[in-house]
Amino acid sequence: MHKFNCIYKVLGLIFAPKITKMTNRTFTMIKPDATQKGNTGAILEMINNGGFRIVAMKMLHLSSEKAGEFYAVHKERPFYGELVEFMSRGPITAAILEKENAVEDFRKLIGATNPANAEDGTIRKRFAASIGENAIHGSDSDENAAIEGDFFFSKLEQF
Ligand code: CMP
Repeated sequence: MHKFNCIYKVLGLIFAPKITKMTNRTFTMIKPDATQKGNTGAILEMINNGGFRIVAMKMLHLSSEKAGEFYAVHKERPFYGELVEFMSRGPITAAILEKENAVEDFRKLIGATNPANAEDGTIRKRFAASIGENAIHGSDSDENAAIEGDFFFSKLEQF
């Protein structure tokens, strides 16, 4: 028994750092404009083709209180009221995605916040109408990805 414990410990030391490095998560919301236009399926296909694994997902309608809480970091910005109103206008799809270098790669896949500056082939270039109604959200750091994912999903809902 003691011998096996030692073997498991050694294997853990060899593989654990690699596993931690390789599994990286980000959080996304397909926003009400994209839902209303029927673009959820096409966006999920682009996410899938981009090599992201969905490890949590749900469709829901945010109250203005919950939308305000999620975007509290922007509370002092002039567009905060408009943002909260828009995000609580209709259903969204929230998801946690896994991929190596997930945060950075996902921001590349969605494109610039303002679709006028988004590159060809990005989700916002294809589906976003304006800086406010920009189809999709992606976390801007590993730390925020964890906070935002936990805002929507319990640990039991994250696979
Ligand atoms: P998102 O990536 O979800 O993070 C914050 C959101 O605020 C952003 O996408 C935009 O939808 C919104 N936003 C940022 N700048 C503006 C702006 N100037 N006017 C309206 N909405 C904005």
